Amino acid sequence: AVERVQRNCARFDALFPNYGEDHRYVLRENNNWLAAFWPGMLWLAYDQTGDSTLRDLAGALLPTFATRLDRQIHITHDLGFLFTLSARAQYQLTADPAARALALRAADLLAARFHAKGRYVQAWGPIGDPDEGGRTIMDTMLNVPLLFWAGAESGNPAYGSIALDHARTTAAHLMRPDGSTYHTFRFDQQTGAPLGGATHQGVSDDSLWARGQAWGILGFAIAADWEPEQPFLRRAARKLARRFMAELPGDDVPLWDFWLPTGAPRYRDSSAAAIALCGLQRLIQVDAAHAEEYRTYANRLLSALLNHCWDDDPDAQGLIKHGALHIPKGIAVDAYLIFGDYFMLEALMRFSGRAPEFWGVPSTQKE
Ligand code: GLY
Repeated sequence: AVERVQRNCARFDALFPNYGEDHRYVLRENNNWLAAFWPGMLWLAYDQTGDSTLRDLAGALLPTFATRLDRQIHITHDLGFLFTLSARAQYQLTADPAARALALRAADLLAARFHAKGRYVQAWGPIGDPDEGGRTIMDTMLNVPLLFWAGAESGNPAYGSIALDHARTTAAHLMRPDGSTYHTFRFDQQTGAPLGGATHQGVSDDSLWARGQAWGILGFAIAADWEPEQPFLRRAARKLARRFMAELPGDDVPLWDFWLPTGAPRYRDSSAAAIALCGLQRLIQVDAAHAEEYRTYANRLLSALLNHCWDDDPDAQGLIKHGALHIPKGIAVDAYLIFGDYFMLEALMRFSGRAPEFWGVPSTQKE
């Protein structure tokens, strides 16, 4: 996996891989939510190898993230994804003060999306947008780790309180009693009253979009690392993980939506398996009383990814095939997805016993 990342440096140059098929990635400018997963892979691979080419390319891409903020290019809750794996990762591995300042600037913009009445971080659209101001989504759980980090880094507890409040709201409203999830949930943004759940990328409002479930497992596991005194976080992650594993088909590769009606397209989503796998690996640490259960689940997902999704082509650019980006819109329905590859690489590094911590509490702060 690391050799593929090294080979891709010259191929991708100043561009960002998004998704792809036939062993090739489609490259784009830094203008969407996917941009930081490639720098994140570069930082993971740099930590593993010490190869300065990887560090230098990731560092050269960082100014394009500052430009995103300066020019307000597609700024949403995805600030967390974008600045955790670019600026925070760079600061963590190189102690670059400019990267730290950029990550804190992004955290301020993310914190400004918090709605005090409903106690959630707004996912999409401008802050207070009449249509989107009342909506948060499951994926937001992977954006709030930037706030936990900013709180620890700056000493200002307000960031962490927002992240914890958002997690509490997500557990209360986006999780259903059976441990399944809504992809998105709306509140009355004036009063904070909960209005109801709805899908965006799943097959229907009452279905179970696999990647949303996986974001929940990983997001609550990361939150539990930051807030070990809050047992509801581990309980939520455990419940989501058990539901995810119970829904898997015979080959353990998730379908894009676990609750498909007859006749709906049966695409798989390998990225959901890679994300859930990273969540399970974290749960082994943060919910040690259930470690054996999580280890069994993690081994099943790793086998499924290696046996059914790994791209064996000797010239492959990507790691895992069979990701589903957006089935309702018909975008990248059976494809490489850059975040699937990022989490596959992170999972492999965790199995190998050496992975830097870009989402949870840095190991230096645990000592
Ligand atoms: N966060 C968007 C997605 O998972 O497709």
